[in-house]
Order: sequence, then structure tokens, then C-alpha cells
Amino acid sequence: MDRILVAYDGSESARRALDQAAALANEHPVTVVSVAELLPQFGRAAAMLRPEEDEKPKRELAEAVQILADRGVKASAIERRGDPSDLIIDTAKQEGADLIVLGTRGLSPIKSWMLGSVSTRVLHHAPCDVLVVR
Ligand SMILES: Nc1ncnc2c1ncn2[C@@H]1O[C@H](COP(=O)(O)OP(=O)(O)O)[C@@H](O)[C@H]1O
Ligand SMILES: [Mg+2]
Repeated sequence: MDRILVAYDGSESARRALDQAAALANEHPVTVVSVAELLPQFGRAAAMLRPEEDEKPKRELAEAVQILADRGVKASAIERRGDPSDLIIDTAKQEGADLIVLGTRGLSPIKSWMLGSVSTRVLHHAPCDVLVVR
């Protein structure tokens, strides 16, 4: 796999996804994407970020790039704003990714045996292979 895209939201599961991506990268650089979710839009109001989302991707991306660097893997970071699953898929297309690596669960407080909504949607619509890391 020479074009790996990791989706990172700062969760434990996404952290394990970084480890797997590093293990699979095999000297190639890895791309990390973090998506800031927008508030649901009402009428024609401009899309707005939840205040706590504003700095989150930057922080998460810096953290992810550092974790990969510690494992000897070069990484580039992409920050997007909008719907996470749509934008992870879109970034995979743009980057010509041949593998998307992401976690089973994310930051939502509901813990169950089910996959999270982002991992489910990425699995259904990805343009390439997907590795869902537990
Ligand atoms: N906003 C996001 N930006 C980047 N990656 C994300 C984002 N949200 C989720 N992911 C990825 O998808 C995985 C599963 O998260 P998700 O489906 O959102 O679960 P949950 O419903 O528990 O929040 C995460 O471990 C992470 O790899
Ligand atoms: Mg989530």
C-alpha cells in the first residue's frame, strides 16, 4: 500500500488506526485527515463551526503527525470542514488513496458493539480498500 489515508479524530480507536497505518506504510508517507463538523444549518445561515471544533483538527493533526514521526513515518496533514464521512471519502479520491485506515469507534459517547456512523458510511462508499481498526 503506498497511498494510505488515515482518518483521525483523537479517539483511542483512531490512535490504533495510526499505529496500523504506520505498520503498513513501508517507507511511504501517510496522509492524515481530520474533519471539523459544522453545526446543522438552518435556512440560509452560513455554515458555522461549533466553537469547540474550531481548533480541534489542528490539534489532532499535529498530534497524529507527531505519533507517526515517532514511528519513523513521514506524514502530511489535511484539515477539512463539513460532514466527516463525505469528506474522508472525498479526500481519499483527491489523494488517490489505495487504503483508508480508520477506527471502529470515535468520540461519540454511545458505546456499543456496532461500528460508528463515520466508519459505517466510509465502508459503504469508499473508492478504495478500507481497514477498520479495533
Ligand atoms: N471528524 C472526523 N475526522 C476524521 N476522522 C474521523 C472523524 N470522525 C470519525 N473519524 C474516524 O472514524 C472512526 C470511527 O468514528 P465514528 O464512526 O465517528 O464513531 P462514533 O460514532 O463512536 O463517534 C474514528 O476512529 C476515526 O478514525
Ligand atoms: Mg464520531
